Amino acid sequence: MPIRFSRLVILSLILLFSNATYAQSSDAVIAQKVQALLQKMTLEEKIGQMNQYNGFWQVTGPVPEKGNAKQKYDHLRAGLVGSVLNVKGVADVRKLQEIVVKESRLGIPLIFGLDVIHGHKTLGPIPLAEVASWDLPVIQKSAANAAKEAAAVGINWTFAPMVDITRDARWGRVMEGAGEDPYLGSLVGAARIRGFQGDDLSLPTTIAACAKHFAAYGFAEAGKEYNTVDMSMSTLYNIIFPPFKAAINADVSTVMNSFNTLNGIPATGNVWLQRNILKGDWGFKGFVISDWGSMQEMIAHGYSSDLKEAALQSITAGSDMDMESSAYVGHLKNLVDEGKVPVALIDDAAARILTIKYKLGLFDDPYRYCDTQREKETVYSPALAADALDMAKRSIVLLKNDSAGKKAPLLPLRKEQKNIVVIGALAAEKTSPLGSWRVGSDDGTAISVLEGLTKYKIAHKYSKGTDVTVGKVDFIHEVNINQKDSSGFAAAVAQAKGAEVVIMVLGEHGFMSGEGRSRSEIGLPGLQQQLLEAVYKVNKNIVLVLMNGRPLTIPWAAEKIPAIVEAWQLGTQSGNAIAEVLTGAYNPSGKLPMSFPRAVGQLPLYYNHFFTGRGGEKSEVFWAHYSDVKNSPQYAFGFGLSYTKFAYSNLSIDSSDNKNIKVKVTVENTGDRAGEEVVQLYIQDRFAKIVRPVKELKGFKKINLEPRKSQTVEFTLTDAELGYYDNDGNYFVESGVFGVQVGGSSDAGLKGSFNVVR
Ligand code: NOJ
Repeated sequence: MPIRFSRLVILSLILLFSNATYAQSSDAVIAQKVQALLQKMTLEEKIGQMNQYNGFWQVTGPVPEKGNAKQKYDHLRAGLVGSVLNVKGVADVRKLQEIVVKESRLGIPLIFGLDVIHGHKTLGPIPLAEVASWDLPVIQKSAANAAKEAAAVGINWTFAPMVDITRDARWGRVMEGAGEDPYLGSLVGAARIRGFQGDDLSLPTTIAACAKHFAAYGFAEAGKEYNTVDMSMSTLYNIIFPPFKAAINADVSTVMNSFNTLNGIPATGNVWLQRNILKGDWGFKGFVISDWGSMQEMIAHGYSSDLKEAALQSITAGSDMDMESSAYVGHLKNLVDEGKVPVALIDDAAARILTIKYKLGLFDDPYRYCDTQREKETVYSPALAADALDMAKRSIVLLKNDSAGKKAPLLPLRKEQKNIVVIGALAAEKTSPLGSWRVGSDDGTAISVLEGLTKYKIAHKYSKGTDVTVGKVDFIHEVNINQKDSSGFAAAVAQAKGAEVVIMVLGEHGFMSGEGRSRSEIGLPGLQQQLLEAVYKVNKNIVLVLMNGRPLTIPWAAEKIPAIVEAWQLGTQSGNAIAEVLTGAYNPSGKLPMSFPRAVGQLPLYYNHFFTGRGGEKSEVFWAHYSDVKNSPQYAFGFGLSYTKFAYSNLSIDSSDNKNIKVKVTVENTGDRAGEEVVQLYIQDRFAKIVRPVKELKGFKKINLEPRKSQTVEFTLTDAELGYYDNDGNYFVESGVFGVQVGGSSDAGLKGSFNVVR
């Protein structure tokens, strides 16, 4: 016994000692290894590390004529490729890794990148939907699960999270981000990065993350994909940059730059963005990847005269890796030989890339992510499905729940309810609810609404009514929404006539949002609005379940339809999550991460706008308003209902410690079922040297309350919440009066104020 005990002690001491040594020196050790390796590398090999090719099976962008498969294989063997994207599956990953490890001179392993945006095969809700949960631990878990499944198929780097703030729902990529608010967006982005990367990047279950797209891509003019961005320094520093800065603070491994020009200069060639801000002011130590072909696109922008100049401008600006432009592999060596690019820039870029490869453990074992047994056990595992369901139900937002003249609201459905009719093509869909950006997933793997209802024992009849799209729909083809076929209307209307409740599942196909999927009208596509109105004529007891990848304009439905459930595209477990909410097995708790406009003409629309000299809701001629629509959104940022009700009281503010201002509020569940509420705190810096928004989210807490129970929720406001950036990027807090609003939405709550003295 004593002998065993002392062995254990010795073993523990050894472990403790080795861990401590590892923790203290791993960065330094990696730096030494990187330098030693650089010494052995030729200039071409260093440039090779900066070159990323698309794999040979799948594309997520236009394929350039150059870079054919034979040339790519030759380059792999010659050590001229540092990374590939869009290769997935252990067998294919291993095949390519073996080529570089066994056949290239130095055998430097590849890093395998992929858009793992909301899961790999088991899909969670689209990222925007997840944010509607306002539940950071669950969002983090969702990213961790995505990493685990992607890592099991050989991937070690995801091009996520997208942390672009977005205010224009016409832009298809709003589905991929965290919505319109920089505070929420920063916290969500950091949570996702922690989820993907974990505490230890070298584990075979964690992968490198990539904050994208630096910068301002989400502000494409008129919501048109890839369009120009022209914006103020104030918006850049206060709205666009914070989630990127939070990503750097969360130790994100990589950053992707963006396709757009920013105030006249393409982001990929923008010295100020990448060298001054990202790598300078923020001290980013990871590497910057260009977006797909964004180096060569600088020619089309009218910024670079040819690919060689694009390469020069990109490296000068701090872009470390070239995705699919062949600009670096084709021209950097000549540029160095001609004395136009200092070798130090190449060394720096290559060192940054090699550092991440060391951190991932790829030099210890290039096949670390290539375990077929793990692949088999992990992909589509029941544990991942259970978590995906949990995430999906938390992402649903209840927008309206009236009683349509009856005693109780339409939702949740009651057990004794008979004769339920379900209408809409999306109700039967097993692919569309997977959403956009699902490079690894398999069509037909979502639980449909019909299947979910059956599983949760809601007997129903079904009628399609009309299709959402026409013809084939997939990731790389334009989707046709010019639906003209109304032949299914009559059957749907006939079925709806005698029903107790009609569940209409309407919205966008999953491939109507995402990259390259801008829309100029964002109402219900095709003939779905007409179908809704036709059914309403014969039966007003309609529960409208919306499936969409962006805020939609639904003014008619918002006015007429008694119950509306925002169910986005919820991924693999979609139908089960929707059934849980419709039956009340789960009490909805989501809140909108983006304002829903009344009309597309209101865009860009966001809650944290500035005052005007003539603001408010007055509709008088010489006033900031539209003649034909209210200023306010249809549904505000932060809005979402529950099957219970929450009452707010006792707002108290203690600013005696002026650097730690305490705001307290009592929240009571006044209904008769348990529920979760997102308690939101907004501030308003009333007078400032540079005017401040009408309100800014600066705190939120998600609480769970039993019926008739109350809880005091407390927030602390420090300089981190109270200040703002001036137009030179200096952060400061100004003395003066601040307003506070605490409530369950950006457009409602208790109000107070306090003084800040600095
Ligand atoms: C272009 C997209 O903008 C980017 O987000 C994505 O990661 C790359 N293509 C790779 O697919």
